[in-house]
Amino acid sequence: MAVLPSARSSAMLVLRSVLTRALAARKLAPQVCSSFATGPRQYDGTFYEFRTYCLKPSKMNEFLENTKKNIHLRTAHSELVGFWSVEFGGQVNKVFHIWKYDNFAHRTEVRKAVAKDKEWQQSLTPNLGLIDKQEIEITYLVPWCKLEKPAKEGVYELVSFQMKPGGPALWGDAFKRAINAHVDLGYSKLIGVFHTEYGELNRVHVLWWNESADSRAAGRHQSHEDPRVVAAVRESVNYLVSQQNMLLIPTSFSPLK
Ligand SMILES: *[C@@H]1O[C@H](CO)[C@@H](O)[C@H](O)[C@H]1NC(C)=O
Repeated sequence: MAVLPSARSSAMLVLRSVLTRALAARKLAPQVCSSFATGPRQYDGTFYEFRTYCLKPSKMNEFLENTKKNIHLRTAHSELVGFWSVEFGGQVNKVFHIWKYDNFAHRTEVRKAVAKDKEWQQSLTPNLGLIDKQEIEITYLVPWCKLEKPAKEGVYELVSFQMKPGGPALWGDAFKRAINAHVDLGYSKLIGVFHTEYGELNRVHVLWWNESADSRAAGRHQSHEDPRVVAAVRESVNYLVSQQNMLLIPTSFSPLK
């Protein structure tokens, strides 16, 4: 009889590990995102491609002027969500843009059409020499947010959170509560919350808007002293590895202003 409890507990352990594995496998299936978790994606295939270009020193104006002149050739093929220059955060001389695609097949089609578009390809040539490095990330909007548009022009902040391995099933609820605490208390306008599909995994990007860099800074300081925000953030910080932000200034041709 003395062996029974330990036999039972090892059987329990096996069962638990089988269950954990089954849950992990289910987590990979897109249809299994619960309505209140930061599910890996929305139900449709729409995704957002984040592109960051590091430009050669002092080439920002030239790059933006060329792009402004020709971007209509590119947006004829697919939707540009926003185009910003990076004011603060990491390297200088960076631009950041977001492109929307219905699904991966759509992107493949667009890339093919863009490659065949002689006028666009020609317009690209002067810009190619101005770019040092390009980075791409594919992201989905989390299921609990829609992409918002601010009513007037302002500045944007992209905050990128590197979360612990485990995915939204582990940290989704806490993360959502932390973001919503900021939203509900009106410290800044939320534009979108994006979960990375290709790039650094377990990464979430939060895009905020405010009238100016100063009001954004004021809101940040106030929110950090608000016990309701602090309580919500304290929980999600348990799952946080690192975090980073950038202040973004919309370009004149950016749809998101
Ligand atoms: C911008 O920030 C200020 C300061 O926190 C805040 O009062 C205001 O509501 C913010 N604007 C929006 C649209 O969120």
